[in-house]
Parts: sequence; structure tokens; C-alpha cells
Amino acid sequence: MRIFMAADHGAYELKEDLVDWIRDQYELEVIDFGVHGPESVDYPDMAARLCRELLDSDPDDRGILLCGTGLGMSMAANRWSGIRAALCHDEYTARLSRQHNNANVLVMGGRVLGIAVARGIVDVWLREAFEGGRHQRRLDKLEQAGKGGGH
Ligand code: RB5
Repeated sequence: MRIFMAADHGAYELKEDLVDWIRDQYELEVIDFGVHGPESVDYPDMAARLCRELLDSDPDDRGILLCGTGLGMSMAANRWSGIRAALCHDEYTARLSRQHNNANVLVMGGRVLGIAVARGIVDVWLREAFEGGRHQRRLDKLEQAGKGGGH
């Protein structure tokens, strides 16, 4: 598993912290798509870059997107078929986003979370596995809805 990461200026500092922390803590390969400084960038551009790469990569790879609130990044990422982006501000939601939703992108808000809370959310999200079964049926319906076959 590799971790793709991207942020806008609203979460630049959190992204910098998490890139180093994930590399140290889990010895995972982290690919950092920026932003590489505090300059203002548009979150749809950053989300598009990460989602395009993630959809072309190994299915085990996952993404983490960060913006000020997490809202813009989650809206942008969920427009990409095959991306299941979960906006999580607590560990319970992060756990269920893996077990039930098989989220392949974690989204957090750098202006609403402290670093320790964000690290705790990442830890849960990296460790938890998808449970499959009835949850896979629901995910299949999500993909169909995205193709115009909604229920
Ligand atoms: C940028 O100011 C801010 O709008 C962005 O980081 C994010 O919170 C959008 O949803």
C-alpha cells in the first residue's frame, strides 16, 4: 500500500506533518502531490491530480486529501467514479468508513482538527479493513448510480 497525499493552502501545515509522520510511523511510501508551500491553490485541481493518479494505481493504494474544512476536497473527490472519499473528523467515522464504505480516500479539515486528533484518525483509517458482504452490494449500487443507473 502506498499513500497519495494532497492539500490546499487551508491544510498545508497539517499535510506537511502527516507526510513525515506516516513515513516514520508505518514505513509506507508516501507520494506528496503538494501544495508544497502556503500559496493559495484551488482544491478541485489538487483533488483531480490525486484522484487521477489513484485510479491508475494499484487497488491497495489509498489517498489522503486535506483542505480547510475537508468539504471542498470531499465534494471534488467524490465526483470521480471509483473514488470513495470519506470526510472524517473523528475515529469512529474513520473506522466505519473503512469497514462499511471501503473508503479509498480519507479527507480531513486542517482548520477544524488539531494534529494529534488528525494523526489518531489516520491511524485508525490505515489499520481498519473493509468487511465486504452486504457492504459490497451497497458499494456496487453506488457505482451504478454514478453511471446513471441509480435506484
Ligand atoms: C480555502 O480557503 C478553503 O475554502 C478550502 O480549504 C476548503 O475549506 C474548501 O472547502
